[in-house]
Amino acid sequence: MFETNFLYKTKKGKAVVGDSLELMKSMPDNSVNLVMTSPPFALSRPKEYGNKDQADYIEWILEFTKEVQRIITEDGSFVIDLGGAYQKGSPIRSLYNYRLLISMCDEQGWKLAEEFFWYNPAKLPSPIEWVNKRKIRAKDSVNTVWWLSKSDFPKADIKNVLTEYSDRMKKLIEDSAKYYTPKKRPSGHDISDSFGNDNGGAIPSNLLQIPNTESNSKYLKYCKDIGIKGHPARFPSKLPEFFIKFLTDEGDLVLDIFAGSNTTGWIAQQLNRKWLSFELDHQYLSASVLRFLDKEPFEDVRPKYEMLQFDKNAEIDAEGFLKQSVLFEPEAINISRNARPKRRANV
Ligand SMILES: C[S@@+](CC[C@H](N)C(=O)[O-])C[C@H]1O[C@@H](n2cnc3c(N)ncnc32)[C@H](O)[C@@H]1O
Repeated sequence: MFETNFLYKTKKGKAVVGDSLELMKSMPDNSVNLVMTSPPFALSRPKEYGNKDQADYIEWILEFTKEVQRIITEDGSFVIDLGGAYQKGSPIRSLYNYRLLISMCDEQGWKLAEEFFWYNPAKLPSPIEWVNKRKIRAKDSVNTVWWLSKSDFPKADIKNVLTEYSDRMKKLIEDSAKYYTPKKRPSGHDISDSFGNDNGGAIPSNLLQIPNTESNSKYLKYCKDIGIKGHPARFPSKLPEFFIKFLTDEGDLVLDIFAGSNTTGWIAQQLNRKWLSFELDHQYLSASVLRFLDKEPFEDVRPKYEMLQFDKNAEIDAEGFLKQSVLFEPEAINISRNARPKRRANV
């Protein structure tokens, strides 16, 4: 798949510039284990990366979700992160994320495996008019993250994402006799002394508290060095990390259809999964290669980035590129000679 039209590739994955709806159409049925993504949200005021008008949003995105349903495996999952929004000009919430969920389940037959909520305590207050100026709404710091599947039993193992025990639980495990007496709860629910067993960690809840504060990341550092802006709506890497570990095994294929700065591909690579990342904006995807660099001196990074970004006629083949440099080892990044996509039209 995507043998020639990738922008860059590593041993485990490929980043491809293009409209993901079209790119998905060229993929076989039942071939992806997890699609993890965050689409442009339906904002009342469109942002720089092509957010859709609220009125057309559901219709637009349902076309993508239909294709996702076709390409994921029977036990595959689709995880979609959607930020909340207000209706245009009014302090009334848009229901677009809930409408999308209901349409997907009712019209396309998706199963809601579980709803997750991503709480970002570092989120800045917005919208300014309702929260800061008039002070009539609370800060919106939770995104809805729908985990959907084709079947009732998508592949999942919560043991892969256990969280650290609380101090109280650690004490209980150390000496359960001292800290805990088994008894029946008022509900009649019997809590046995196995409650004090060490299972390697606590079962996480569906409220994921992940601050989006990766200001020191390598990607941002390189962006700054090169003089470009980082992607404005990046995932914190812990978000895709949680779902990739939870819902896939090593060697499985993870796809992000709105890849932006390719956080998903990068983290999938770290976790030994295969990955594919589709992004409409050539510049965002070019900059995402910076995530995959490691100890490169700045002088070497800029020409590589520019090669991806500007030099559309460059005769660079994977072999030549590798001969020139050992910078991308051990996960060598090859640049295809055919991967010189046109600049995107604004969505
Ligand atoms: C919310 S951002 C995703 C950010 C990403 N999660 C990250 O960590 O960087 C949504 C992205 O979808 C891209 N996009 C919009 N329409 C697209 C399409 N039809 N095909 C592929 N990408 C698209 C936008 O350019 C934008 O970068």
